[in-house]
Amino acid sequence: MFNLILFGPPGSGKGTQSERLIARYGLKHLSTGDLLRSEIANQTTLGLEAKGFMDRGELVPDAVVIGMIRSALDNNPEAKGFLFDGFPRTQAQSVALDELLEQRGEAINVVLALEVTEEELVKRLLNRGLTSGRTDDVNESIIRARITEYHKKTSAVADHYRQFGKVVEVKGEGTVDDIFDTLCAEIEKRKAA
Ligand code: AP5
Repeated sequence: MFNLILFGPPGSGKGTQSERLIARYGLKHLSTGDLLRSEIANQTTLGLEAKGFMDRGELVPDAVVIGMIRSALDNNPEAKGFLFDGFPRTQAQSVALDELLEQRGEAINVVLALEVTEEELVKRLLNRGLTSGRTDDVNESIIRARITEYHKKTSAVADHYRQFGKVVEVKGEGTVDDIFDTLCAEIEKRKAA
């Protein structure tokens, strides 16, 4: 069992690298952003509640996303491990995740934190907004609001796991292939430890 958090600000490459990492390591990908967008597409009550927060670039309330992750863990008893992408995003979510994994006799093995400058994040997301259809990528002020929310609330997640020596910072600028190789090297080190 190997559980990993891919951590970083909006646009740092979590989704891009997650696709490759799950293919390499056979992990189950749990992206709260993708789960929420699927709820919105299906026009569920949860999706309708979440949409306003997401369109403003704010975090969805903890109880909503923790509930989604609890269900996803319950629904995947056979998983060889999980890659958490975009979760946890607050101190409360980190504590909840640790408890949920502990109930399964598991823990987070490593937090890989992608580091990218703010100007590069904004450039990437404005560019993605041209084709992605994501309503939170359409203008710079919403993108900057997401980055501000990340600094205000989400950086606490790295602090939480740093106290257990689980955080590895990885430069998230350069080619996708080079970043992937660095992430894999860090995973291999943790697997061997
Ligand atoms: P979420 O879907 O998690 O979005 P995010 O964190 O804002 O991250 P992104 O998907 O924008 O970026 P990414 O890091 O995955 O980068 P990507 O690989 O796509 O969350 C959306 C919203 O949902 C939140 O704002 C919040 O409202 C809500 N939410 C989600 N989880 C929540 C939670 N736990 N609690 C509360 N609310 C929650 O790459 C970005 C672009 O850059 C792409 O175009 C890509 O092709 C490009 N790119 C990638 N790598 C490189 C590279 N090396 N060089 C150049 N370009 C690159």
